[in-house]
Amino acid sequence: MTFVVDTRAGRDELLSQARALLADCGDAVANAANLASFLYLVLDDVNWAGFYFLAGDELLVGPFQGKPACVRIPLGRGVCGTAAATRTVQRVADVHAFTGHIACDADSRSEIVLPLVRGDALIGVLDIDSPRPDRFSADDQAFLEEIAAIYVDSLDS
Ligand code: SME
Repeated sequence: MTFVVDTRAGRDELLSQARALLADCGDAVANAANLASFLYLVLDDVNWAGFYFLAGDELLVGPFQGKPACVRIPLGRGVCGTAAATRTVQRVADVHAFTGHIACDADSRSEIVLPLVRGDALIGVLDIDSPRPDRFSADDQAFLEEIAAIYVDSLDS
């Protein structure tokens, strides 16, 4: 399957599928598990897709697809910790040029990390890695921001 975010119709179709996938459950871990699998399958050139959840003053690895990853990331460290601490999307074209990047999988060349914020609270981050440099476009970012919102909106209050 290929990632069809090049068209608005393709993006809308995938967003509908993601909404349907999470519709029947409001559990943070269950929905993260299914969404990680979904993203790993529909995105091309991706070697890691998954979640880190806020646990105290660090991030703890959650459901993902890809190689085993670092378990804990301090807030402010690496791409994930930066996205969490600043609550801003980190779209990194070349991970080797990102000071403090944490190399969980040596194949990763580019990465995008989206903060997951519910109300005023940071829940964690959604992290996607690619072996292809500059894999993630501005359109991909917009798509993944909508995916992150679908995830946050799916959670039980
Ligand atoms: N590269 C990330 C660490 C997590 S892995 O990519 C799964 C970072 O620098 O925060």
